[in-house]
Amino acid sequence: MVTPRFIALEGIDGSGKSTQAEMLGEALRARGLRVRRTREPGGTPVGERVRALLLEGAPGELSLPAEILLFAAARAELVQRAIRPALADGAWVVSDRFLDSSLAYQGAARGAGIDAVLDANRVALDGCLPDLSLVIDTPVVLAAGRRTAPPDRIESEGDGFLAAVAEGYHALAARFPERVRLVPGHGTAAEVHARVMDALAPLL
Ligand code: TYD
Repeated sequence: MVTPRFIALEGIDGSGKSTQAEMLGEALRARGLRVRRTREPGGTPVGERVRALLLEGAPGELSLPAEILLFAAARAELVQRAIRPALADGAWVVSDRFLDSSLAYQGAARGAGIDAVLDANRVALDGCLPDLSLVIDTPVVLAAGRRTAPPDRIESEGDGFLAAVAEGYHALAARFPERVRLVPGHGTAAEVHARVMDALAPLL
C-alpha cells in the first residue's frame, strides 16, 4: 500500500493553485487512492467562520499579530478535525494552502518574520507538517490576469505585495528544500499538472 501523504498546494492569488489542487485530487483518486480535499483558511465549520473574519473588512483593519493567530486558529481546527483523522484513516490529504501561506504572506510579505510566524504556529501544527508543499510559481503579471473573483482584504494589498509573497515562497523553497518545492506556473493547467505529478512521483 502507498503511504497516505499530506500535500499542500501553495502560491500567490491567481497562481492557479486551486485548479491544481482539484486536478491533483482527481489524479490520486484515479489511482485508486482515497483523498480528503481541504482549504485554508477554512475547511471546518469554525474555520469557515474564522475565514470570514480574516477576509472581510478593510485593509489594515486587523492587527498583524491577531491576523497571524487567527490563521493559526483555523489551522489548528483543520489539523485536529480533518487532516489527522483523514491520514489515520488511510486517506491522502490535498490542501489548498497551509502553513507556508502564513510564512510567505504574514512572515515574509507583511514583515513579521518567517521564524516568528513558525513559532506562533507550533501549537496549531501539533507536529503535523505537509510531506510536500508545492508552490505554483506564477509570475505576478500572469496571476493578475488569471484572477476572476473580486479581491478580498488580503488580495487588495496589490501586486507589489504579491511580488513580496512570491519572494517569500522562494525563500521558503531555499530554506526547506526537502519539504517546499517550486513548480513553474506558466503554460496550460494540464502542463502545470504534469509538473505537479513529476514532483510527487517519489511519493507514489
Ligand atoms: P484563498 O482562499 O486561497 O484565496 P484565493 O482562492 O482567492 O487564492 O486565500 C485567501 C487569502 O488569504 C489569500 O489572499 C491568501 C491569504 N492567506 C494568508 O495571508 N495567510 C494564510 O496563512 C492563509 C492560509 C491565507
